[in-house]
Amino acid sequence: MDITEAKSRIEELSQQLHHYNYEYYMNDRSLITDQEFDLMMNELIGLEEQFPELKASDSPSQRVGGTINKAFETVVHSTQMLSLANTYSEDELTEFDNRVAKGLEGQPYEYICELKFDGVAISLQYENNTLVRAITRGDGTKGDDITDNAKTIKSIPLKINSPLHNLEVRGEVFMSKTVFEQLNKERAEADEELYANARNTASGSLKMQDSSLVAKRKLDCYLYMLLADGHKTHEEALLRMAEWGFNVSQTYKKCSSIQEVFAYIENWSEKRHTLPVETDGIVIKVNNLDQQRLLGFTAKTPKWAIAYKYQAESACTQLRSITYQVGRTGAITPVAELEPVLLAGTTVKRASLHNANEIERLDLHYNDFVFVEKGGEIIPKVTGVDIEQRKPDALPIEYITTCPACETPLVRKEGEAAHYCPNTENCPPQITGRIEHFIHRNAMDIDSLGERTIQLLFEKGWLQRPSDLYKLTFEQLIQLEGFKELSVNNLLNGIEESKKAPFEAVLFGLGIRYVGKTVAEKLIEHFGTIDALMNASFEELVSVQEIGDRIAESVIAYFEIEENKEEIERLKKAGLNFETTLHTKESNSLEGLSFVISGVFKNYEREELKKLIKSHNGKVVSSISKNLDYLIAGDKMGPSKKEKAEKLQVRIISEEDFESLLSK
Ligand code: IVH
Repeated sequence: MDITEAKSRIEELSQQLHHYNYEYYMNDRSLITDQEFDLMMNELIGLEEQFPELKASDSPSQRVGGTINKAFETVVHSTQMLSLANTYSEDELTEFDNRVAKGLEGQPYEYICELKFDGVAISLQYENNTLVRAITRGDGTKGDDITDNAKTIKSIPLKINSPLHNLEVRGEVFMSKTVFEQLNKERAEADEELYANARNTASGSLKMQDSSLVAKRKLDCYLYMLLADGHKTHEEALLRMAEWGFNVSQTYKKCSSIQEVFAYIENWSEKRHTLPVETDGIVIKVNNLDQQRLLGFTAKTPKWAIAYKYQAESACTQLRSITYQVGRTGAITPVAELEPVLLAGTTVKRASLHNANEIERLDLHYNDFVFVEKGGEIIPKVTGVDIEQRKPDALPIEYITTCPACETPLVRKEGEAAHYCPNTENCPPQITGRIEHFIHRNAMDIDSLGERTIQLLFEKGWLQRPSDLYKLTFEQLIQLEGFKELSVNNLLNGIEESKKAPFEAVLFGLGIRYVGKTVAEKLIEHFGTIDALMNASFEELVSVQEIGDRIAESVIAYFEIEENKEEIERLKKAGLNFETTLHTKESNSLEGLSFVISGVFKNYEREELKKLIKSHNGKVVSSISKNLDYLIAGDKMGPSKKEKAEKLQVRIISEEDFESLLSK
């Protein structure tokens, strides 16, 4: 394909993908299947890689990210990003209304009420109807330029359709409750620390350095402010924004009195919990912009708007008992079993107590009446005890000392809050937990097998470890109660199919602590095979992007255990994939050579360069030593690196030099 053909194909694909994205995110309409969409997107990405000069800054391919941004540039906001005065009381709202009435000297006025979305404020600048810059709130005067990350948010339009062409909008980036729950579920399965709430997770995600990781976080965005001329009221601004392609929440309402505002508050006090986004209150804004100007600002907040916050929802209920769950790693989690109570729209029967320290902190006694709260968090938590309702003879909770499942004495590792059951090999919930993890959708994905069947097979003595799955026979399974020929064949087919799962899935399925899906992918990208990973040193592990000490230690500890190595051998024999197909060796042209990559490159992302080196059998290392063969220097390379390389007489080469090295 020549460049003119490529140009017209790229334009065609971009236009179609923009259209499908818009319909999907704004109108909830899927005009093509996911697979068709991915095919088109891959074709576009391929063409843009081939002809980098044709890649537009608003190309739909920007949605998948891939830019690494080490330090975000600080930029000054066009106008300050203010915050709002807060109140929890209706009396104070009435006072606000009185101040507005007084400030407007008898003019009639209206309010627009909106929900207060619990996310991170963002400002988006469009030039020629194209998104050119996205800035975080920062300190209100200046924020971080996070444009590449914002482009991965599908509900932020890269292109708009406005007669103004140049404008700025502001709104809130958030993570939906379902995405947050799913993310935490995956983290729990990988034994990674759970995120506290959706807001902080959204905020942390927006500041990640690798935009392709941001894309995976599936953030969302509502816009609620238009900085442009040509409209007289805030309501008009909302209508214009929606018309031009921005995602405007349709939960706002015009109110012509403070009584109507109270009704809006009441109306949403429960209903807001059914929305996909966390909300913590409502925002009341004077509708007319001239009146807004007349009312003006205090130093930090507008006098024409205020936020009313709902009280954090809390309820009091009685503790029935404490149960203890044993995870697949042996970690014990105490759970408060409660008298059912209605809270923030759902009935709460259980709340996590995290660990023994938490029980101690609460000074929890048997049959206590406890306060449970649901803030931004999904899982309700016990926040305190109503001592007044405690019987004088009530006894403090005594933490268990032996495993509730296998009665092995519990241990507490230094520096960790949780108690553990050390009986890794024989404690039933640990065994079944590991198998449940192994068959999980993100791992071997054997959906014909469920928790109940695993339990049954375990009780029969047929299932002790994942590799036993591959030994199950028709004759065995047909003996199980409730199993007919069809269900047995289904199960066996599912197990057989799982052998095709890629190495990433297998590695995740092994259940190494802290090795979640993304970490598994990163490790594989670097090491390629289980043998290389098994032999990796601590230094080599931490040289991989996103791999820290904690993960490296856990990987090493895992492979030090003989049983784990034996299990891998058994799984290899069963035919599972322990090698990646991601970077099959293309040539040996870089064999024996080591490289450090530094700076920014014209034709490659850093990860691409790394892959390229590895696929030609070269080695990528992170620090400069006298044994290093080449330092590939891009733009903006740090001066200290250059100095060190020169001192140690390491060859410094350009991107072009590297390319000619490759083709030798
Ligand atoms: S208007 C000058 N509307 O709340 C007023 N803010 O405490 C600008 N927020 O920084 C804000 N939902 O991050 C406005 N519907 C909404 C909002 C909203 C959430 C956040 C925003 C702002 C903070 C103010």
